Amino acid sequence: MSQTYGSIFLLKLGTKNIVAVSDPDLANQVLHTQGVEFGSRPRNVVFDIFTGNGQDMVFTIYSDHWRKMRRIMTLPFFTNKVVHQYNDMWEEEMDLVVDDLKNNEKVKEEGMVIRRRLQLMLYNIMYRMMFDAKFESQEDPLFIEATRFNSERSRLAQSFEYNYGDFIPLLRPFLRGKIMAANGGEKKKICCAIDHIIDAQMKGEITEENVLYIVENINVAAIETTLWSMEWAIAELVNHPTVQCKIRDEISTVLQDNESITESNLHKLPYLQATVKETLRLHTPIPLLVPHMNLEEAKLGGYTIPKESKVVVNAWWLANNPAWWENPNEFRPERFLEEERKTDAITGGKVDFRYLPFGMGRRSCPGIILAMPILGLVIAKLVSNFEMLPPPGVEKIDVSEKGGQFSLHIANHSTVVFKPIVRS
Ligand code: HEM
Repeated sequence: MSQTYGSIFLLKLGTKNIVAVSDPDLANQVLHTQGVEFGSRPRNVVFDIFTGNGQDMVFTIYSDHWRKMRRIMTLPFFTNKVVHQYNDMWEEEMDLVVDDLKNNEKVKEEGMVIRRRLQLMLYNIMYRMMFDAKFESQEDPLFIEATRFNSERSRLAQSFEYNYGDFIPLLRPFLRGKIMAANGGEKKKICCAIDHIIDAQMKGEITEENVLYIVENINVAAIETTLWSMEWAIAELVNHPTVQCKIRDEISTVLQDNESITESNLHKLPYLQATVKETLRLHTPIPLLVPHMNLEEAKLGGYTIPKESKVVVNAWWLANNPAWWENPNEFRPERFLEEERKTDAITGGKVDFRYLPFGMGRRSCPGIILAMPILGLVIAKLVSNFEMLPPPGVEKIDVSEKGGQFSLHIANHSTVVFKPIVRS
């Protein structure tokens, strides 16, 4: 539509106004220079149900409540200290995936749908960070419930008889012990993110409802987005074996004497990082970012934007417009080492507004600090242990997209053959 109606246009849908922005300068204005004016989120009945009328962080308006929630969530989730505290655990969960694949004869010949195993890994990474707890296996009833909960969310959200407590009973076993200990005045060592959050609740900074919505926000924002990106990366790597070879060569050249791939040496692997960036460019997981909203009437690109308009930034088009990118349809990590070497996925500082997979500015994704190393590590571990191939009889993996307003994910979960690499 932006090609027909221009880089900014307004759609009137009943009483609602939707403004779509598809130009780097306008994106800069929405996210940065007028970041306060456009820093709220639109409300609708579905979000209100999910967030107890904005008691969370992701969907709340730009306000003191949002600032407090973002501050409280930063310490346990979004700092370098958190990355250093947990990176050994991330690797442990990833190594379990590698072991499972190596011990499964079927995946060496016929392949498997890799999504489900990566989903368990990501849930365990996030639940160990949050609750210091994990799911035993893909058959663990709580894991089945947790994943079903995510896919049921959109259906249940339409129901007016919705009760948050009934909706996610699975959180109760994780939270109960923690909350009871805190209520009983027990002074416990802070060992995971939820301890920090409950500490803030005990100090009266937030309510018990806020605690639940924080957990819900992490479930929604952290797990599926990162999982979609992994699925895209693996599918593209299967279809581009030369990229797999280059990553493998880079690892064996840079990390000598069997030095293992860890978070602390990812910075020595530029081609690997370029592969992560290229995946997020071609398959921007949240193609329109999370919608923004202006509480008051505002000006944008010379137009008047009525108050309470839903403002979407077309991050996918910014990263795939042939006027700004060389052969954008091509999966070519090299671009981030050549003509785009200065372009990076960052959420503050000097930003290239053509490349915004995590948004930018006040409402940008704080999870970038976790997502980038987790993606780099998982790709490095898979590629260095396996040759990833399409299943027998298939030449290329289907990379058709399925998506709506919020997400752009792979339409058919890929079946991939993992052939262990025999080291000489
Ligand atoms: C590849 C993985 C991820 C991608 C592509 C991604 C992308 C995004 C985008 C585009 C936004 C909205 C930016 C805007 O509206 O301007 C966002 C918001 C957010 N993300 Fe992520 N994200 C990812 C992973 C994560 C992870 C791992 C976490 C947490 C552990 C996380 C937590 C959040 C939160 C809390 C917000 C809301 C920020 C706010 O409204 O103030 N994300 N993310």
